[in-house]
Amino acid sequence: MSTVPAVSKIALVTGGTKRLGFEFAKALVRKGYSVALSYRSNAEEAGHAVDVLRKKEGGRAEAFRADFADDGAPDSLFKEIFSSSLFSSSSFSSSAASSPPRLDALVHAASPWIPKPFASVSVSDWEAVFRAGPRAAFFLAQAAAPALALSSGSILFVSDVAATQTWPTHIPHATAKAAINALVRNLAVALGPNVRVNAVAPGIVLPPGDMSPEAVARLVDETPLKRQVEVADLMEMAIAILENRSMTGQVVAVDAGRTVKGD
Ligand SMILES: NC(=O)c1ccc[n+]([C@@H]2O[C@H](COP(=O)([O-])OP(=O)(O)OC[C@H]3O[C@@H](n4cnc5c(N)ncnc54)[C@H](OP(=O)(O)O)[C@@H]3O)[C@@H](O)[C@H]2O)c1
Repeated sequence: MSTVPAVSKIALVTGGTKRLGFEFAKALVRKGYSVALSYRSNAEEAGHAVDVLRKKEGGRAEAFRADFADDGAPDSLFKEIFSSSLFSSSSFSSSAASSPPRLDALVHAASPWIPKPFASVSVSDWEAVFRAGPRAAFFLAQAAAPALALSSGSILFVSDVAATQTWPTHIPHATAKAAINALVRNLAVALGPNVRVNAVAPGIVLPPGDMSPEAVARLVDETPLKRQVEVADLMEMAIAILENRSMTGQVVAVDAGRTVKGD
């Protein structure tokens, strides 16, 4: 079990119960944050993630269901989180029942993966990607802003190198991530001086299930560093961005140089 520092910070990680979202949650727990994880569909997987964070990592964690396809999901999610046991512990003095809740970090990692060629993209594909992507990002920020402002907190959106490349078989995804990058700049201005807003844009870290090992190897070979991004490389940057008090409005690529090389 790793030793979690005694500092009582609180973070929400959306999509935090699996894959990269879970890695963000682990990295935050290791830095002493208590974490709320949101999940959409798999309560059992969410329960397992919470168990690992509590028992193996020695942290405080709870999972909450939220489907960002639903109108009002960001608001309902925060209402549930703020009335949960994460906010009722006496160790969180400024979050006691009579005080407004404070939040230190919001990491929005949830994002549907719907690879489709141009001619097959449907309205519902487009809606799914934009609702869970930039629409949820905006309304999560709106719902969290007062609590984040109380602790000079920080938002980290999870973008993608797709935002600045051309991915013709993933047009909704690439376009939604470009909207995330635009949100970062706009929200950084709207939420200053008390809340910072940034994003990480990973290259290939955990390949999606529909990508062959050969395709992964080819993409890695095309990067200047000839390297698949390691989870630890991404998490180190994510924590540094979240905690850097002079940084806002930035999208940082952690991509082994994939974007400087081109599409
Ligand atoms: N993996 C990589 O190497 C990589 C590279 C670049 C960028 N990224 C970005 O990093 C983030 C995580 O990537 P990943 O590969 O770990 O993703 P993933 O395996 O595709 O998982 C996506 C997550 O988003 C959730 N989600 C999808 N639609 C949702 C909705 N409507 N409401 C709530 N949650 C929803 C999923 O929940 P369910 O499982 O319940 O559907 C799941 O937890 C994403 O933003 C992705 O674009 C990843």
